[in-house]
Amino acid sequence: MTKIEIIAHRGASAVCPENTMKAFERALELGATGIETDVQLSADGRLMLIHDETLQRTAGASGWVKDYTYDALRTLDAGSWFHSDFAGESIPSLDMLFNLVQGKRILLNLELKNGVVPYKGMEERVIQATREWKLEQQVVLSSFNHASLVKCKRLAPEIRTALLYMEKLYRPYDYAAKLEATGLHPYKLAAEKEDVSAALAKGIVTYPFTVNDPAEMQRMMDMGVQGIITDLPDVLVSQMAAK
Ligand code: G3P
Ligand code: CA
Repeated sequence: MTKIEIIAHRGASAVCPENTMKAFERALELGATGIETDVQLSADGRLMLIHDETLQRTAGASGWVKDYTYDALRTLDAGSWFHSDFAGESIPSLDMLFNLVQGKRILLNLELKNGVVPYKGMEERVIQATREWKLEQQVVLSSFNHASLVKCKRLAPEIRTALLYMEKLYRPYDYAAKLEATGLHPYKLAAEKEDVSAALAKGIVTYPFTVNDPAEMQRMMDMGVQGIITDLPDVLVSQMAAK
């Protein structure tokens, strides 16, 4: 059986409210080897884990994450929208996730959500936190904002970066190499078998997202990817065991 990274997208987000500590803890229980999460900045500059730039969908509040302080964000309920069993789950900080994985060999894929809101100083803050927690070897910074990843690489050459993209790219591995990224995170329909092997030959790994259907997981594994980002880490564990 070829081992690949099993990366829980927003934690075990099929069975728990996304981007909550419950979702991260459950992902580890289900056998994930990595956790993907989304990073935004509070009004007072704290790194918070929430997918949307606005609070309505998952935290039931109006307005933007960027306009709420850390204390105000921490009072919001990020669990009830998913199921009443999770009422009171909160929006975690990045420090809370770092604390959870301390001493564990878990890959942390931090997606910088700095495409819509141009969070000033986000890169510096994420890098500082990663260094403080001594997680440089475990963290992979990804973003659809490739300029931001170039900035990260300049500030912290020791931390890996990975390019997120939705559409097929021409020779994505050459583009990644130019940006000194060591990961390609394509949308599942943008992943190409030839690119996966050509990327690996340059030391660049491919982790497609978000792959939840077992047949699609199999197709990605047959393509030779080195990891899969999924809402269903347990399904991927079973799929790999059946191989
Ligand atoms: O890591 C890939 C994936 O998380 C990007 O899309 O919208 O789920 O953050 P989204
Ligand atoms: Ca994400």
